[in-house]
Amino acid sequence: MSSSEKSSAGGDGIDRRGMLKCMAWVGTGLVWGVSGGVATSRVFGQPAAPDQKPTFTFVQISDSHLGFARDPNKDVAGTLKQTVDRINALPEPPAFVLHTGDLTHLAKPDEFDACAEILKGVKAGAVGYVPGEHDFDGDGNKEYLGRYGKGTQGLGWYNFDHKGVHFVALVNVANAKSGSGDGGLGVIGAEQLAWLKKDLAGLKDSTPVVVYAHVPLWAVYEKWGWGTRDAEQALDLLKRFGSLTVLNGHIHQVMQKVEGKVTFHTARSTAFPQSEPGKGTPGPIRNLPAGKLKSVIGLSTVSYIETAGSLAVVDSTLE
Ligand SMILES: [Fe+2]
Ligand SMILES: [Fe+2]
Repeated sequence: MSSSEKSSAGGDGIDRRGMLKCMAWVGTGLVWGVSGGVATSRVFGQPAAPDQKPTFTFVQISDSHLGFARDPNKDVAGTLKQTVDRINALPEPPAFVLHTGDLTHLAKPDEFDACAEILKGVKAGAVGYVPGEHDFDGDGNKEYLGRYGKGTQGLGWYNFDHKGVHFVALVNVANAKSGSGDGGLGVIGAEQLAWLKKDLAGLKDSTPVVVYAHVPLWAVYEKWGWGTRDAEQALDLLKRFGSLTVLNGHIHQVMQKVEGKVTFHTARSTAFPQSEPGKGTPGPIRNLPAGKLKSVIGLSTVSYIETAGSLAVVDSTLE
């Protein structure tokens, strides 16, 4: 999150059947609505409930991978631009946009530049970021932190409040390496957990909380590194809140799980889809049928309605 917002606020080898199933559930975009404290979701394009004007709306985008230039998407800048166009065409500009990491493919300066240049065009109050493992390659994390670390703690974690909702941005990729394929499980680490404990201490149980981080905070598929080793410790600190919404990226597909008062949600990539957990191999689905790409990448919009105490997520694709 920029300082202004902070202050105010298959794969190869996948069988066809598996791929079709995967495409069915990655085929829409995500809109998060915060509406009184509990997260709900709807499919993009469906009307919101009448008389339920959101207190505010924000957009989640993820996994733009600037610098990636192979099948199934040789123009990831183009699809990110289209995503920005989609955001700019929303009926009301979102309060802010959250990018949940993998801005770049190889953490190169020109890739960061390209991403920043495109996101300059987004009509929103601010854009907040967390790094993905692809943003942490080979430079001691200096490139990411030099651009997005201002006003953050440790390796880039931070918080902000917006209209009664407390947002926590966690970094759980510091140990990961994108080159190894599975990347390894995410880790939050003792220092960040101690910060989180302190950060939450002054909040009432009734405060709606939104946590966002790159790697899922629930075990989606640990063999592929699609989970966070010490997520339980973070969730223990968060379990007293009546409304907790956890937003992640990394797996390039929409998945949602509701567990008690916690809603976990992962967003699509703006660049390319990955295989369904355990089907084929992790990494881009390269053999997408012609013309299908834009039906499996997209964005999520989240609306908060204070009176209802809940968040609603809508996933939408670029097509
Ligand atoms: Fe990614
Ligand atoms: Fe990732």
